[in-house]
Formats: sequence, C-alpha cells, structure tokens
Amino acid sequence: MYLYPKWIRIWHVLNALLFIILIVTGLSMQYTDMENNSYTVGFAKAVKWHNVAAMILTASYVVFFIGNLFTGNGKFYRIRKEHFWSDLMKQGRYYAFGMFKGEKHPFPVTKERKFNPLQKFTYILAMYLGMPLLIISGFVLLFPEIAINNIFGISGLVLNDVLHISMGFLLSVFMIIHIYTCTLGARPFSLFWGMITGYHRSDE
Ligand code: HEM
Repeated sequence: MYLYPKWIRIWHVLNALLFIILIVTGLSMQYTDMENNSYTVGFAKAVKWHNVAAMILTASYVVFFIGNLFTGNGKFYRIRKEHFWSDLMKQGRYYAFGMFKGEKHPFPVTKERKFNPLQKFTYILAMYLGMPLLIISGFVLLFPEIAINNIFGISGLVLNDVLHISMGFLLSVFMIIHIYTCTLGARPFSLFWGMITGYHRSDE
C-alpha cells in the first residue's frame, strides 16, 4: 500500500536529522559549566548549529503544515469525535496486553486509515501543539526583545525559556516512544522500510 508520498519522506528524514542535531546541541548548551566547558560539542559551536538547525526545522515545518493543508495526507490527521476515547483505550489495551498475546491489530492500516487512534493523537499533539510552541518559544529566545516583560510578576523571558526547554524535552521523549512504536509493524523494520520506500507492508 503506497502511503508515504515522496514529500513526506523527504520532510521526515530532514525533520529526524534536525531533531537529533537540536537535541545534541541543546544538551551541550544546557550542560555547559561556569568555565564555558561543554561536555559535548562546545558552547559557541552548539549555539551556532542549534540556530542553523532550528531555522531549517522551521522552514521544513512550514512545508509539512502547508503540505497537509493542500494534499490528501492531511486527511489522516483529522479526528472524529465518535468513539474517540474508546478507540484510544482499545489501542492502548492492545499495546499494553493484546500484542503480547498475539491478538490482531484493532485498527489495521488501510488506504483511508494510515494511523491507529493513539498514533494519530500523538502525531497531532506533537505536530500541531508541541512543534508550534517549540518554534515560537525558540524565536523569542533568538529575538528576546519581542518577549513580554512580565507575566503575573514573573519574567516573560524566563517563562518562555521554561516553555522551550519543556517542549524540547517532551518532543524528545515523543521521539523515543515513536521509534519504539515504529518497531511494532508486521516485522520490526517494516515501518522504517515503509518510510524509506513509501510502501506500507500489512501483516494481514
Ligand atoms: C530518528 C528518528 C525518527 C525515526 C527513526 C522515525 C521513524 C518513523 C517511521 C518509521 C514512520 C512511519 C510509521 C508510521 O506510520 O508512523 C514515521 C512517521 C512519522 N513520524 Fe517519525 N521518526 C523519527 C523522528 C520523528 C520526529 C522527531 C518527529 C516529529 C517531531 C516525527 C514525526 C512523525 C510523523 C508526524 C509521522 C507520520 C508522517 C505521515 O505519514 O504523515 N518523527 N516516523
């Protein structure tokens, strides 16, 4: 089943590589000590590469956003209210128990349903909440003069910093769980292979 168009595959590989660069350079900045010694790539280099990677990530996010708005791929991200919570529970139950007992996927992949309910929900949270907050708070750190000075007596810049670091952390956790769940296809590597070739291999 051809499910991953070329533009999504190019966006995704770029996004994943940039994320890895952002995590390494972000951690390098966070764990620089008072003598300016960084434990990984060095503070000045980390700042430079973090900014460059963030600019490219922002541009690639715009491509993802517009691509999903104007191509058929956007339909896979639409949530229907009926059975929303029960479908999430069904999928959660499958990940927690069902798959260990050899049960069948409760929501097998079809041309109309590329993602299972839990996958869809986490992709929407990551791409339409986490990423915009990460990008906007990153821009405020790059141009601190646009930050709101004071929010309920706390520095706007500090709150923005906490937001940026929290989003970076949560999206990094998302990435780790995402990579794990991508091993749960027909074979451990079939979903990764699908993202390279564009074709999903069904286990039916
Ligand atoms: C090394 C890191 C990564 C690997 C190996 C990886 C792997 C994969 C694979 C195999 C798929 C296809 C399976 C599926 O249908 O879900 C996929 C889809 C996806 N991944 Fe990743 N991923 C990585 C990082 C990320 C990051 C950092 C994000 C976002 C912050 C992300 C967001 C997505 C989204 C939104 C899709 C669905 C795209 C679509 O078909 O519309 N991934 N990923």
